[in-house]
Amino acid sequence: MNETAIRQYLNRLNVQTMIQFHILDSIDSTNRYLKSLTSSNITEVCCAETQTQGRGRFGRVWQSLPGENIYCSIRKPFHGDLKQLSGLSLVVSMIIVAALNAIGIDQAIQIKWPNDLLWNNQKLCGNLIEIVSQNQQEHALIIGIGINVNANTQESAWCSLSDITGKTCDRNRLVAELIAQLEKHLELFLTHGLKPFFSTWNTLDYLINQPIRLNHHKNELTGIARGIDETGRLMLMDERGVMHYLSSGDTSFAIIPDDTFQRI
Ligand code: BTN
Repeated sequence: MNETAIRQYLNRLNVQTMIQFHILDSIDSTNRYLKSLTSSNITEVCCAETQTQGRGRFGRVWQSLPGENIYCSIRKPFHGDLKQLSGLSLVVSMIIVAALNAIGIDQAIQIKWPNDLLWNNQKLCGNLIEIVSQNQQEHALIIGIGINVNANTQESAWCSLSDITGKTCDRNRLVAELIAQLEKHLELFLTHGLKPFFSTWNTLDYLINQPIRLNHHKNELTGIARGIDETGRLMLMDERGVMHYLSSGDTSFAIIPDDTFQRI
């Protein structure tokens, strides 16, 4: 990864934001690194060639092989109520899809609620958002993005951009696009919430109308996924036609194979 190259792409994209880059060979986690910085009024971006303790959601490990993929975190100051942020990880997933589209990848990439990017039913990318709060109104958003770019994914449940395109991909250009798309959409989300993103979500929603089984607060629930509500919760209609609204933090689920589920 190369700061000069990223800045050149950002200039071409006309991104004027003040950015401090931290381009590292190796770090435990780019999210953890940005979390440890003292408070700052500008955007900070950390990219590493490898992470020794890359973190995924629910405390999982994010495997971070050297030199092939994107391990990038973006830190932005946020002044406001944390309630405004519900649905942010869905928006970040849509931003990543927009960045991929902008570099010419328009194959059917979908988002599995809340934030896994899939191609061909295989995971391509994930994001992990963390927040550092100074007080009730002053925070730093840390948006961590892991994308399989040029990794060899044979015999794994994963895929990479090179599987999709058959070519190697310029990681500096993609990081610049991620920053540009974030600049374009984050403010819109913070001002208007998820509403302006619904139509995009509906075109990318992997779960829509799929039968799924959920573990929610130790209860098992089966039903059909019916999209998201205005705060980004998954809407699940059960066999009795009752709608359930589920938050990502307390929900794990599996898609039920078609032939074992009585469609409603
Ligand atoms: C997931 O579980 O799907 C989210 C994975 C997020 C991984 C990225 S890689 C860059 C950043 N640093 C981390 O330690 N995690 C995120």
